[in-house]
Amino acid sequence: MSILPFDDRDGVIWYNGELLPWRDAKLHVLSHGLHYASCVFEGERSYAGRIFKMEEHHQRLLDSGKLLGFEVPYSRAEIDAAAVAVLAANGIEDGYLRPVAWRGSEMMAVSAQHTKIHVAVAAWQWPAYFTPEARLKGIRMAWADWRRPAPETAPCKSKAAGLYMICTMSKHAAEAKGYADALMLDYRGQIAEATGANVFLVQDGKIHTPIPDCFLDGITRRTVIDLAKRRGYEVIERVLMPEELDRTQEVFITGTAVEVTPVSEIEGKHFTPGEITRNLMTDYDALVREHAAAKVA
Ligand SMILES: Cc1ncc(COP(=O)(O)O)c(C=O)c1O
Repeated sequence: MSILPFDDRDGVIWYNGELLPWRDAKLHVLSHGLHYASCVFEGERSYAGRIFKMEEHHQRLLDSGKLLGFEVPYSRAEIDAAAVAVLAANGIEDGYLRPVAWRGSEMMAVSAQHTKIHVAVAAWQWPAYFTPEARLKGIRMAWADWRRPAPETAPCKSKAAGLYMICTMSKHAAEAKGYADALMLDYRGQIAEATGANVFLVQDGKIHTPIPDCFLDGITRRTVIDLAKRRGYEVIERVLMPEELDRTQEVFITGTAVEVTPVSEIEGKHFTPGEITRNLMTDYDALVREHAAAKVA
């Protein structure tokens, strides 16, 4: 992955309806989205120049805004077109796209009724989140100290910037202990998700995953559940408790960035990426490549 700072690159960014030179896509320091987290975003990937599940991601962006009380001032089709244009203008084949919508600078207080809603879509080359070797070996995870909040505490169905504060803190704490990521419990002490991905456990040939009632029901999560069912695996959505790791053989996480990534350890509990994880990794790779190959010439 490039270590170029994200504000100093060549290319263009779609910003409120226009393609701007990358370095000119700025916002003012007094922006409501920055101070009060009135900001929602998406993370999506393109494979061979085609955005996977593009419509679902852009619908979620609009829905996330509504959950925060604002209307994104572009239709889903307009954001689809913006994303396609950004990808083409930057010549990106395998990449990551970041649509974002936030409240602007007209008001600088808790009340922000009259702020303009800004929208941008950026894209950059991003072949893989974890290296292929790391993916095959599985990643090591720590437990997070922070818990996913209750639905009456935060708009947990929104991909809202503010909800990532505890993700960054948890990920940093895990990294400081030498782990790659953190697994978060929810406010009830049930297994919830990773800092940017959903989680699955394999127990005696069956796949178990938490009910997404206080965290994101990931687009990749739903895709992988469908792939698993197509293979004839039983997928059970239920309450999962941390003690169950003792009778779990395989663990994997799913997300746009991590795709299907095996987990080899959760703080001292070890797992061996097995047949089910490997099959779902292969099926997911095949699906995104098939989708890309179906691109209209
Ligand atoms: C906190 C969190 N959970 C789950 C996911 C997985 O969602 P998706 O599969 O839609 O990328 C993500 C990534 O967007 C995330 O940030």
